[in-house]
Amino acid sequence: MDLALSEELQLMQRSVREFAREQIYPVAGELDRNPRFPWETLGQMGELGLLGVTTPEEYGGAGLDVLSYVVLLEEIAAADAAHSTIMAVTNGLPQSMLVTYGTEEQKRRYLPRLASGEWIGAFCLSEPHCGSDAAAIRTTARRTADGWVLDGSKAWITSGGEAQLYVVMAKTDEKGGPRGISCFLVEKGTAGMEFGKPEEKLGQHAAITTGISFEGCELPDDALLGPENQGFILSMSSLDGGRLGIAAQSVGIARAAFEAALDYASERESFGEPIREHQGVQFKLADMATRIEAARLLTYKAAWLRDRGYRVTREASMAKLFASETATFVTDAAVQIFGGYGYSRDYPVERYFRDARVTTIYEGTSEIQRMVIGRQLYRERER
Ligand code: CAA
Repeated sequence: MDLALSEELQLMQRSVREFAREQIYPVAGELDRNPRFPWETLGQMGELGLLGVTTPEEYGGAGLDVLSYVVLLEEIAAADAAHSTIMAVTNGLPQSMLVTYGTEEQKRRYLPRLASGEWIGAFCLSEPHCGSDAAAIRTTARRTADGWVLDGSKAWITSGGEAQLYVVMAKTDEKGGPRGISCFLVEKGTAGMEFGKPEEKLGQHAAITTGISFEGCELPDDALLGPENQGFILSMSSLDGGRLGIAAQSVGIARAAFEAALDYASERESFGEPIREHQGVQFKLADMATRIEAARLLTYKAAWLRDRGYRVTREASMAKLFASETATFVTDAAVQIFGGYGYSRDYPVERYFRDARVTTIYEGTSEIQRMVIGRQLYRERER
């Protein structure tokens, strides 16, 4: 029972849970084995407002708060992690960046398409040589008489080749470091932009990931999102919200693995009783449930603070760190409880285990989250 949630939100949560169980969960296994971008189910998610959850209604979004967003994202993740990654990225980065930093014209052009799910959005920061050290990017954007020219390459782009709008970070001042990076809106099909082949990943196969290269890629003047040379700061503050999405996703994956393990442990017998009666299994289930609850509460708290206008750099990193490590812990424990069957494709827990693994890596590794939390602690102490 989620005491903190309003009745209205609990109602939405129940209906999204039902939708996810009926429409997404049944296709998740097949999409894992034969990966393809799940346009059909994404279309249904768009109709339900799940692809523009916090985007204001005047731009075609559902106009809900961040707490609602994390609650609903958990439901999608509990049915399939790949769908929730696509949802988290298109909502949490391109759309939230457009809402916060876009001009009126940029918002009118892109938000209704993204919020409805007609278009999917992607976020392009990492490059083949740098992920954690995000300010070390080498992609450049050079000013021309009537716009910009992009050159360079991006790596690990969620929805690469499938998304229609790419928010791309590029260097606009060679000597500026983090203050010499700007953010650009690039539409799929722009000349000079090419996608690599989909990466062959451990999990989340339907959340197609590719590299992108830009060679003499010409952009109009109004492709710049936010002020020139402020793109790194924009990305970092948007990642505060993005990381909340990954925290919610991690809670969802962990919950699915926990529920499967609890069911299995209640039915499977050894030494004359259900295995849940053995303390070795019971303690595991207790730890799994406790960590999931704590991860969810950290996520809700950070979302609640963000809804009230607070900067949540520390809280979002704590939620993402704890929830993603919970997801890897819980899915590993679930495989153990299932024993040999946990290692088999006949049950979904091996998929949860593989899908969860990346949550401690993308949108900032666990090591980066600890670094962010540590720095925030010192800053707060020195204030
Ligand atoms: N909010 C606002 N401003 C911020 C900020 C935040 N959360 N974090 C940093 N800044 C500002 C700083 O205040 C600083 O500004 P000033 O110059 O005015 O002081 C500026 O940004 C530079 O910050 P740092 O000095 O902290 O920069 P750094 O180079 O030391 O790096 C870092 C900081 C936290 C390690 C950063 O590089 C980082 O987060 N790395 C991880 C990158 C990441 O998460 N990538 C995810 C890729 S996206 C993805 O995975 C999506 C997907 O498809 C699934």
